Amino acid sequence: MDSENLNEWLDLWEKKKAPWHLDFVHEAIEKHAEILMTSPKAKNKIFVPLCGKTVDMKYLADLGNEIVGLEASETAVKDFFTEHDIEYTTEDVPSVKGKLFRSNDQKIKIYCCDLFLFSADIESGFSGIWDRGSYEAMEPKHRDECARVMKTLVYPGIGYLLEMPDRELDKGPPFCVPVDVVESNFGPGCKVVKLLEVTKTPPDFLAIVKAVNVFRLHFQ
Ligand SMILES: C[S@@+](CC[C@H](N)C(=O)[O-])C[C@H]1O[C@@H](n2cnc3c(N)ncnc32)[C@H](O)[C@@H]1O
Repeated sequence: MDSENLNEWLDLWEKKKAPWHLDFVHEAIEKHAEILMTSPKAKNKIFVPLCGKTVDMKYLADLGNEIVGLEASETAVKDFFTEHDIEYTTEDVPSVKGKLFRSNDQKIKIYCCDLFLFSADIESGFSGIWDRGSYEAMEPKHRDECARVMKTLVYPGIGYLLEMPDRELDKGPPFCVPVDVVESNFGPGCKVVKLLEVTKTPPDFLAIVKAVNVFRLHFQ
């Protein structure tokens, strides 16, 4: 990630501008959380890349899951813990040139760092990945790099949910990435299947996108 791009996101958080943030649980999580929670290989440990301060993390933690978020903005991470009244500790993580925020009850951890420094060497064994506003938020030039990080974390049977808007291909973020491009980015062995069309979106969002869909990624 070039620092200019990352700084734009950090600036938005400093200015308290997060128009993508939902103050309710995402429909895909409300209806299909179980997809992230079952795996022949792993315990229920869910990765939420580029998590912002999404309330989905609290919801999934309350269902009994261990949550691992990742977010570059320290403001967003602190807001998440403060807004949910969750006590936490912090520690430096030199390998990602960032910090780890950990809830005192050990249910929620958030790495505050650049996604591109993360990999399975830092954390692995996820039963599910909830990707809203990560892959779709990346500038096209960073898309391969984003998929490269995610591919270190996936294996057959992992539950992977990916949100994607339906809109003109050159507009974004959020960007629309056609299914065959996602498959080739994450492939070979990746099959992308539409799970649902989101009906609860922020009021002005449907003015800029035709629809918002959530896909399930299957890996062989
Ligand atoms: C569109 S928002 C999505 C937030 C969240 N998933 C949600 O549903 O509310 C994208 C987030 O990614 C963060 N971000 C952007 N690039 C990043 C990077 N390279 N590493 C870590 N976080 C990044 C931004 O600060 C922002 O909070």
